Amino acid sequence: DVDIGSALGTTPGLTTEYLDRLDERVADAHETIADGMAAEEFGYAALSLPETADPDAIRAAVSEFQDPEAVVTVGIGGSALGAATLANALESDVDAHFLDNVDPDHTARLLAELPLSETVINVVSNSGTTAETLANFLVVREAMDQDGVDWTERTLVTTGPEGNLRRLAERHDLPALDVPAGVPGRFSVLSTVGLAVAALQGHDVEAILRGGADGRASLSGSLYESPAYAYGAVSYALAERGALTNVLLPYAESLETFAEWFAQLWAESLGKDGVGQTPARALGATDQHSQLQLYRAGPRDKLVTLVRPRERADVAIPETDLEGLSYLGGGSLGELLDAEFEATEASLAAADRPTVRVEIDRVDERALGELLYGMEAACVLYGELATVETFTQPAVEWGKRAARGLLGGGEFSEADAVADKRELV
Ligand code: PA5
Repeated sequence: DVDIGSALGTTPGLTTEYLDRLDERVADAHETIADGMAAEEFGYAALSLPETADPDAIRAAVSEFQDPEAVVTVGIGGSALGAATLANALESDVDAHFLDNVDPDHTARLLAELPLSETVINVVSNSGTTAETLANFLVVREAMDQDGVDWTERTLVTTGPEGNLRRLAERHDLPALDVPAGVPGRFSVLSTVGLAVAALQGHDVEAILRGGADGRASLSGSLYESPAYAYGAVSYALAERGALTNVLLPYAESLETFAEWFAQLWAESLGKDGVGQTPARALGATDQHSQLQLYRAGPRDKLVTLVRPRERADVAIPETDLEGLSYLGGGSLGELLDAEFEATEASLAAADRPTVRVEIDRVDERALGELLYGMEAACVLYGELATVETFTQPAVEWGKRAARGLLGGGEFSEADAVADKRELV
């Protein structure tokens, strides 16, 4: 559920009258989105994944690996964050790790710790050419060789139709899943890209997709009827009025990676043509003690999005006769966390700062599917209202080509530009 009530009337000046007018543009945008989904157009196709994803194919591919102890996903950006969000939210006996950086310390430490013969290597790259992913994979493969582990027996590939990774999978006859056509990385969590790890960890993939389908069913031509569109429209409207930062503040450790996933979705999709809303990752209640001061009393350039599950497993706080602490005893950590959530919301409202409340039933497969789908739909709507190309990432591609060029992996003018700049320093 999305409650936009606390975003109205706050100082950037968002009124119901304005939202009523904006709703006419939401209706047009919804038509564009629905047409794009029906035609399976690039990007919009991602919003059809709850129906088009094939859980049987995913399960068949992972069934090659019997009872792994761990899975290491080698991928970056959209090829890692969706799977990481699910893995870090849901409990499993199969440990999930992510090599989404080329920090040598981190990679070496992880490889030293892992039981490689019991580990599945899940290599994910849509383009099949991303330097960080392929470099890490070569390192992991070598480590397995050195441990006497046949890496071809322990590797699952998820990739697009072309690229080095596809060729490698074919050459070694590795189990391979396809990244569905028309699905950009940061919108791919409900596809093979995000769901293979969930399947390897024994999670209910169908329930995740059912949650996505519930999200899809709630899309309509009005922001007042669709929680996802309400969030997208209000975020857009506030950004137009100066709320150029969107603080994603989940009150659940299990949703910390969700904030990372959201940050990529929002930044890479909407940061175009000199506009966009900068996502800031935070965690309640921890960051109340580090950042809330700024959110309540700093520049009036923020929307704070508070996220929480309505139900969670709880831990009782023991009674105490310590003076002044009796109010805690007999309560629970969950009640305290909820009180912190509500106090933060009230504190921001009292300071005339806009917030939106997003609640899910509990942190489980279905609710996560709906939450992730809803944020994707919100982002697509925002992109339509802001008239940006939501599904491209030219700045990211520039950097990728330049880095490859600097290492001699292609002749790119971007690499020359970086080399010139380096000489200046
Ligand atoms: O959202 C995106 O398109 C990017 O973040 C990509 O997911 C990221 O750059 C990784 O690309 P690839 O999957 O081609 O390795």
